[in-house]
Amino acid sequence: MDFSKSKQLQRRAHQIIPGGCHTYAKGDDQFPLNAPGFLVRGDGCHVWDADGNEFIEYGMGCRAVTLGHAYRPVVEAAQRAMLDGANFSRPAALEVECAEMMLSMIPHAEMVKFAKEGSSVTNAALRLARAATQRDKVAFCGDQPFFSIHDWFIGKTGIDTGIPQAIKDLSVTFRYNDLDSVQHLFDQYPDQIACVILEPAKYDDPQDHFLHRVRELCHRHGAVFILDEMITGFRWHNGGAQTEYDIEPDLSTFGKALANGFSLSALVGKRELMERGGLYHDRERVFLLSTTHGAETHGLAAGMEVMRTYQNEPVIARMNEQGQKLADGLATVIAKHELSDHVSILGRPSCLIFTARDQAGQPSQGFRTLLQQELIQHGVLGQSLIISYAHSDDDVARTVEAFDRALPVYRAALTDGIEAHLIGRESQTVYRRRNEPAFRGTP
Ligand SMILES: Cc1ncc(COP(=O)(O)O)c(C=O)c1O
Repeated sequence: MDFSKSKQLQRRAHQIIPGGCHTYAKGDDQFPLNAPGFLVRGDGCHVWDADGNEFIEYGMGCRAVTLGHAYRPVVEAAQRAMLDGANFSRPAALEVECAEMMLSMIPHAEMVKFAKEGSSVTNAALRLARAATQRDKVAFCGDQPFFSIHDWFIGKTGIDTGIPQAIKDLSVTFRYNDLDSVQHLFDQYPDQIACVILEPAKYDDPQDHFLHRVRELCHRHGAVFILDEMITGFRWHNGGAQTEYDIEPDLSTFGKALANGFSLSALVGKRELMERGGLYHDRERVFLLSTTHGAETHGLAAGMEVMRTYQNEPVIARMNEQGQKLADGLATVIAKHELSDHVSILGRPSCLIFTARDQAGQPSQGFRTLLQQELIQHGVLGQSLIISYAHSDDDVARTVEAFDRALPVYRAALTDGIEAHLIGRESQTVYRRRNEPAFRGTP
């Protein structure tokens, strides 16, 4: 494959954009060296790079695009709204219509506030919880990878430079499906924890009523229980994972798939909490969410069309069906190449990932990079296997075939060593303090 235009763009990008792009998960360091540098077009689950190479894509916009790229009804709804103006000096009528629609999707939600991205709404949920409880500490699930770009979360990662220690000290972490680790925090910091925030699930379902028991603990200790549904929302169930698991959060946050790649996020929750951000009450005011672009009309129109599509079409059922076909097909080829101890497919069918292990059975970034590299050679691009409504049987079959062709190289690398097969350096994890020597100089 020719990547010369991508390479040129990469050199230009890193001269003028720190990181070369605007999302860590899309950075060069997250992909093998042979990955396409820049994409220029998408249609369904297919994307084309700057050099005209075509790929079947997984993950799609960091899991934001569940209906497929350039999904016509959503694009047309956004376009219609734009042609009537994007932003006014008083609220757009669409803000009310979109809010009503959102609340009709999420059963326990009584009020909603929209913003443009997920980090703003998780941050707002914390502020509301702190205001309501008059407490400063926040507890988040430490084995889930991301909640916000804001200091309360990034301060606890390996890339915490620039964040005051005083802020870091206010965040504490617990483990998923480990109730004792949550109880321990309430014991250690009595009357100090404002809220507990977690994703309802990642790759494992909640065990032993974990979510219900965390909620109970929160309420017993006077803390707010928050579910971050950025990924699970519009992927687990039309009403969010909270509906799937029948759990009622005090607050919850949505984004990503809510507008199929357009920028729209939402904080939803109980009236008694949410109302504090309002105008008509006599309690202390909370500066909840307010941005110039918070309610751009086309983002709201896109969101409404997405919700309409979910109501009228079997989006989630189809994602699960296609994901299951993919998981089954991959299990067969992984077994055929006798790599079941090294390559695993994990997660819910609508949200699959792959893991790679080395000769010793340890998780390996090098083998992960090698597998991604080989999949790219065979026309599959993705850091995950997260499917969309647009992945057809043919796409699934071609992905299985790409694995079938990639896995012999993996097997060979287990014998010869990865260096004999990997082109250049390994990909990296985001939360590292310094760039590896391979990332010094120019791309
Ligand atoms: C679970 C979760 N919460 C919050 C966010 C932040 O969303 P955004 O990138 O839109 O700010 C993400 C983004 O990846 C996420 O995965």
